[in-house]
Amino acid sequence: MRKNIVAGNWKMNNNLPETEALITDLKNQKQTSNAEVMVAPTFTNLFSAFQALRESDIEVVAQNMHYAESGAYTGEVSAEMLKSIGVQTVILGHSERRAYFNETDDLLAKKVDAALAKDMRVIFCFGEELADRKANNHENIVASQIKNALFHLEASAFKNIVLAYEPVWAIGTGETASPEQAQDMHAFIRKTLNEKYGSDVANSVSILYGGSVKPANAKEIFSKPDVDGGLIGGAALKAEDFYAIVNAI
Ligand code: G3H
Repeated sequence: MRKNIVAGNWKMNNNLPETEALITDLKNQKQTSNAEVMVAPTFTNLFSAFQALRESDIEVVAQNMHYAESGAYTGEVSAEMLKSIGVQTVILGHSERRAYFNETDDLLAKKVDAALAKDMRVIFCFGEELADRKANNHENIVASQIKNALFHLEASAFKNIVLAYEPVWAIGTGETASPEQAQDMHAFIRKTLNEKYGSDVANSVSILYGGSVKPANAKEIFSKPDVDGGLIGGAALKAEDFYAIVNAI
């Protein structure tokens, strides 16, 4: 049985008081779905958020990390540092990291390995750009992103992997993939996993959709059989909207 997950990626939004206020609002929301709920504050607010939510059902996760254990990597944060404050899950491969910080599949493979080596869970993001979709090359792009960063792993590693399909053209644009486009790609991802690892892995990995998910469209997207939840950006910054999405699954 796959887990349903709804994760809020707060990106580079909210200073400390704003983060505290959002957490207070989140705690006042009521969950009526069975989804695992996660939020990803920026690094400076991770510890405070973790402390504030430690008795709650909301998991605090990181938006990124470095692959090295420690050393001369100014400005970076290691898996061990995240673990030391209680963070167990990290988002890797977000399209904004790929586009603005030149994160390649090879680099991401190293980050995935480093996180798994510390028994962390990885939410691994990928997705095609608009030009890829227009050229009908979206499946090839997604397959290569997954293969290059993950297919060196043993099958057993996938118990700690969550996949997040985020078409770049749908992120923050208000233009979401149609539920059918999301379903088609998620089924393709599962087929790709099945070909390499077999049906046990393919059927047990949760695949989230991300890209302009809102309270108004979440239910229809989440109703698709291969969509196991969402990675939510803008709509995760308001507690009521976020929980409308959490409760849509
Ligand atoms: O990580 C979240 C995604 O980038 C989606 O962002 O919901 O603002 O489109 P968005």
